[in-house]
Amino acid sequence: MEVIITSDYEEMSRISAELIAQEIRYKHDIVLGLATGDTPVGTYQELIRIHKEEGLDFSKITSFNLDEYVGLPPLHPNSYNYFMKENLFNHVNVNPANIYVPQGHIEDPEHFCFWYEAQIQKAGGIDLQVLGIGRDGHIGFNEPGSSFASRTRIKALYKETIEDNARFFSHQDDVPRFAVTMGVGTILEARKILLIANGEKKADIVAEFIEGPVTSQITATALQLSKSATVVLDQEAASKLKRTEYYNWVRDNKHLVQKKVGR
Ligand code: PGA
Repeated sequence: MEVIITSDYEEMSRISAELIAQEIRYKHDIVLGLATGDTPVGTYQELIRIHKEEGLDFSKITSFNLDEYVGLPPLHPNSYNYFMKENLFNHVNVNPANIYVPQGHIEDPEHFCFWYEAQIQKAGGIDLQVLGIGRDGHIGFNEPGSSFASRTRIKALYKETIEDNARFFSHQDDVPRFAVTMGVGTILEARKILLIANGEKKADIVAEFIEGPVTSQITATALQLSKSATVVLDQEAASKLKRTEYYNWVRDNKHLVQKKVGR
């Protein structure tokens, strides 16, 4: 796992957007896995800027979002369908036919989850999965105890998640108790993973998932099993890591290795 520690939210957003942009430039028809929440908003803003000012082309990409609340229709202002339109899709040249966000307002959730997984397979699998992390260590809505083999399914939300997400709703009781989420197994199959985290409130869980043992009690620890995972943090989120000196040295010197192997 590569750990990149940046100075603040702005730099974290700039670096993660640049990593995503590089992948899009390299593979125009890339399949992206996308996340919602406060963390990626700055990254999406920077991607919009790169699209507008540098012509980054989204026309051939396909994207699959991680999750959606059960019970919220796609036009609901707290739905993740709405979030993605507001924060990214309405501002870049994506083809709406290639955009997949789980539907939470559905008659047959089981059938939907099966269908969603099939669409990911049909698209050739996810090339780059973008993730945030919850205070309980979740990726997507894979709450503590989620199997590392899990696929897209309905998951009951954990107490901390409901508390954290209550800020978007007028009352805590309005926060949906269930979500449709890609599984940990779905996420782990992505060819590359980029997790971003900022703020002091994430410092404990960031240290645990990067430097602690692999456990389904903290589903982000599954990234330790990924073939290619990069974590971009701001100073505050990185403040409880023990090996920062090493991560910073690698970041500053990795060109030496790349040169040696002739890449
Ligand atoms: P946040 O959520 O970006 O709003 O902190 C992250 C998550 O719950 O995955």
